[in-house]
Amino acid sequence: ATLLVDGSPTSRKIPDTMFGIFFEEINHAGAGGLWAELVSNRGFEAGGPTTPSNIDPWSIIGNETNIIVRTDRTSCFSRNEVALRMEVLCDIEGSITCPTGGAGIYNPGYWGMNIEQGKTYKLTMYVRSMDAVNLSVSLTSSDGLQNLATANIVTAALDMANWTKVKLPLEAKGANVNSRLQITTAQKGIIWLDQVSLMPLDTYKGHGFRAGLVSMLADLKPRFIRFPGGSYVEGEWLRNAFRWRETVGPWEERPGHFGDVWKYWTDDGLGYYEFLQFAEDLGASPVWVINNGISHNDQVDTSTIPAFVQDALDSIEFARGDPDSKWGSVRASMGHPEPFGLKYVALGNQDCWKKNYRGNYLKFYYAIKAAYPDIQLVSNCDGSAGKLDHPADLYDFHLYTSGNDMFARAHQFDRTSRSSTGPKAFVSEYAATGSNVGKGNLFSALAQAGFLIGLEINSDVVEMASNAPLFVNGNDRRWSPDAIVFNSWQEYGTPTYWMQHFFKESSGAILHPTTLKTSSSNLIASAITWQSTEDTSSYLKIKIVNFGGDNVNLKIVVSGLQNVVNSSRSTTTVLTSKNLMDENSFKEPNKVVPLQNMLQNAGTNMDVVIGPHSLTSFDLAL
Ligand code: AHR
Repeated sequence: ATLLVDGSPTSRKIPDTMFGIFFEEINHAGAGGLWAELVSNRGFEAGGPTTPSNIDPWSIIGNETNIIVRTDRTSCFSRNEVALRMEVLCDIEGSITCPTGGAGIYNPGYWGMNIEQGKTYKLTMYVRSMDAVNLSVSLTSSDGLQNLATANIVTAALDMANWTKVKLPLEAKGANVNSRLQITTAQKGIIWLDQVSLMPLDTYKGHGFRAGLVSMLADLKPRFIRFPGGSYVEGEWLRNAFRWRETVGPWEERPGHFGDVWKYWTDDGLGYYEFLQFAEDLGASPVWVINNGISHNDQVDTSTIPAFVQDALDSIEFARGDPDSKWGSVRASMGHPEPFGLKYVALGNQDCWKKNYRGNYLKFYYAIKAAYPDIQLVSNCDGSAGKLDHPADLYDFHLYTSGNDMFARAHQFDRTSRSSTGPKAFVSEYAATGSNVGKGNLFSALAQAGFLIGLEINSDVVEMASNAPLFVNGNDRRWSPDAIVFNSWQEYGTPTYWMQHFFKESSGAILHPTTLKTSSSNLIASAITWQSTEDTSSYLKIKIVNFGGDNVNLKIVVSGLQNVVNSSRSTTTVLTSKNLMDENSFKEPNKVVPLQNMLQNAGTNMDVVIGPHSLTSFDLAL
């Protein structure tokens, strides 16, 4: 086979926003994942349509003879009324003896807290008691036997008539990846607790994000972040959809909500403000997906949608308004007086086919355009095959399909109209799915790599693309496959994650025409030149997917280059494995990862062998 690359400088630029990430609160991606809060259900508010207010996963230390625990509505937070009432019946000096270490409650976090030796954890909680008791707050192993850190609270020293906010640093003198937070006493009394939070100090930029997970994302150089869903935005029912207002302001006053699509509670520590902050921290453009009055099972009638439209306008004011505007001032009070760079708003998720979609969409569209003409609005309706019947800047295109079909869909946009005025595609969710992709194997990664090469080639009509879903906490796999897998203390990329590394220089790069001369339908290739900010050199990057099981002898001929190839700094990187179905795991996190080598014969005329089932990149330094 032969690959001809036209390296002349007259070629086309790929959009600056081309490759980004899509964060959805699914699989405990945020609560118990990206958001570093270690306590689950910190306000004792967890619940849902069937079990309003429960204390799960808090559990009791002791038994019914020495402690009674229940919730009541005595919290000092009006949006968040439930508090925990803990009545300790045992006493060091009384007739009922306490268990060793006292009676109380513990929180195991999200399948165990990762407590690291020498690190400090910031405990914040609200306490009220009219009885003088010594409370012990400690980090322990899951059986309570290994003590990692302890602090004491003497209630007599607090304002005993009112709630007191208590802040304590807990420095770990040991390590355990499956720890818990205990609050106990060996003295009789009634104690109310609320809003119990435990945060590591070393979060990403001090903004509350789990550093290890963020650095994996930062390495992808995402140009945008679409958030907070997906179906999560819609909800099974509107009453359970993500409501941004409930997620901003002091964390103690956020009610939290039950995400009824993925069926778990979130305290909404990772709220609208945090998403905007996160995008800013990564240097990525936020893409705010708004619920436009449509859930999976109910819809707001277009005649009553204006309140929802106002809510959307308020959310944009929150992100972009002056610090003295109504909602801009809330943002400023949270520590960000400068506006966030919100330029993309998506109106709904996968809702085009629903009865009220168009009616509602148009109300949102015209109101947002009138107030913020520069905001790019995304429609849920597919414009790849024909003209949309409504105005839009971009249209969502979602693709979940088998690996073989995904690879073939590299040509999906070949036939899309090249009209210069029509909206561009935002492939905001794509993933190879089905029985032969496992939990994310090499096969799925290669299929998607082929698809993405097709998007690069069609980047005159495709503006943005992101894989889905991004994260899975291995303890709560609601959707497979995903790009990054983690538990309380480990994280690894699936081959899909590593595949995306091959595309991280593409956004804003120059796309060069390529001609692949072969009889095989298993090959696809693209070529870009991009400028490294690290060493200011430019590189010609040629990517090739071999989706077949045989070696391919390939002659690569590059014409039109303005610079000579520097062979001493040129490399080749390959993503492959022994078996097509190979996956990474906690045990073998690096089984399928890209391997880089120097490119010995770098030049404009190269004879190379492309291994079976591989994604290869040739990076020629210019
Ligand atoms: O990515 C998982 C889900 O797939 C998203 O929530 C939804 O938009 C799509 O159906």
